[in-house]
Amino acid sequence: MTIDSSGPILFPQGFLWGAATAAYQIEGAAAEDGRGPSIWDVFSHTPGKTRNGETGDRACDHYHRLEEDLDLIAGLVPHYRFSVSWTRILPDGTGVINQKGVDFYNRLIDGLIARGVTPWVTMYHWDLPQALHDKGGWTSRESVAWFDHYAQTLLKLFSDRVKNWIIINEPSTQTFLGYGIGVHAPGLRGEADYAAATHHMNLAIGSAYRLAKAYDRGLNVGSSYVLMPVFAAEDGGDSGSVAILDALWNRNHYDPLFTGTYPEATRAAFAPFILEGDAEKLNTALDFVGIQHYSPAYARRDENGLFGINFGQGPDTFEKTDIGWPIDPPAFHGALMDQVARYGDHRMIITENGIALFDRMEAGKVNDTRRIGYYRQYLAQVHRAIADGARIDGYFVWSLLDNYEWSEGYSMRFGLVYVDYETCIRTAKDSYRWYAQTVRNNGLTQTQKDAA
Ligand code: BGC
Repeated sequence: MTIDSSGPILFPQGFLWGAATAAYQIEGAAAEDGRGPSIWDVFSHTPGKTRNGETGDRACDHYHRLEEDLDLIAGLVPHYRFSVSWTRILPDGTGVINQKGVDFYNRLIDGLIARGVTPWVTMYHWDLPQALHDKGGWTSRESVAWFDHYAQTLLKLFSDRVKNWIIINEPSTQTFLGYGIGVHAPGLRGEADYAAATHHMNLAIGSAYRLAKAYDRGLNVGSSYVLMPVFAAEDGGDSGSVAILDALWNRNHYDPLFTGTYPEATRAAFAPFILEGDAEKLNTALDFVGIQHYSPAYARRDENGLFGINFGQGPDTFEKTDIGWPIDPPAFHGALMDQVARYGDHRMIITENGIALFDRMEAGKVNDTRRIGYYRQYLAQVHRAIADGARIDGYFVWSLLDNYEWSEGYSMRFGLVYVDYETCIRTAKDSYRWYAQTVRNNGLTQTQKDAA
């Protein structure tokens, strides 16, 4: 089990290799076959909210190119993580099931299994039904019951074939950007909305976990969180600003999950929303914790910022991705080990890691050597963390395809497959072939061989 800068990357036997996507970022067909509007449809159609006014109306047109995408997935990985669009299944959020939406996910799930690929389903990747937002959305405590109903619906429909579940994707990204500072859907701002949405999502995770395990003890149920190591910014950072930014992105989710409490730095904001008995509901021993990491962050004081902080400048020494995110792989190792030190031994799966580059097609090829370099370095740190005692059982790249990067529109390419947004033609990048080979070197395409 060794790794160096050029040799093969070999992980322990049984390590899970995967790739991830999310419904609104790839599916398109936003108003087709009975799908209802989500907060992202409404937000992206509101002038001025996204880059160039871009929406996920068509995205990668995955909804209509399913067979082709299934083949791309099967050529790459034995595990595929995707999310279900809540409003494709329940257009109003609760109530009547939309059979055409169910049919689509059945085709996807069955198509994966037929190709020897194991499905990992994210129940919720930020696309809350607009009908529920109109009733208060995540700021209302009723959201926990709405989510329970949705989770139960998915379990009944798909858990005969889907055994791996991720409850909510990165709650902190949605609560900070969407409820705290308003740059993501649904565009709310302020500490109260931030805290309410955060607390209710945390409760929803605990509740859906218990519900899923009561439904079928054999299911593998976790939830995915940001893990973003925070350091003091060079322009006005100090330990206090670090504690607050760390709370907003990391600790306001991990602390309640592992201990039932919120960290000191922002605790007061949660008080109005906490009811008796919540600590036990928050504190949940998930089957695995999904870890999502892209880069570190640097905190600074900002009296106009949420809780008096903001993102600041890091050191110039780090190389940056094309969209300016610092590349600091050892910081990922540090953050993983810090999780173990804080919360004790627990099962982790890296459910997202990746890099945005301004990739270009030249003579029918996308030569994304920098992406391969990024993955090599980050995988080396995951490998090192395992050697140091962290229980990490798998790794999913973000993302299978270039896709709709939320308020950044189509400008950021994270895919291992290039998508021409005019024609929707897909082209495997060099990183796709490199990752497929890495997976093969680890001998884990046997599942696919067995299915053949
Ligand atoms: C999200 C993805 C997003 C990616 C890159 C994560 O925050 O889960 O939806 O595309 O990071 O920003």
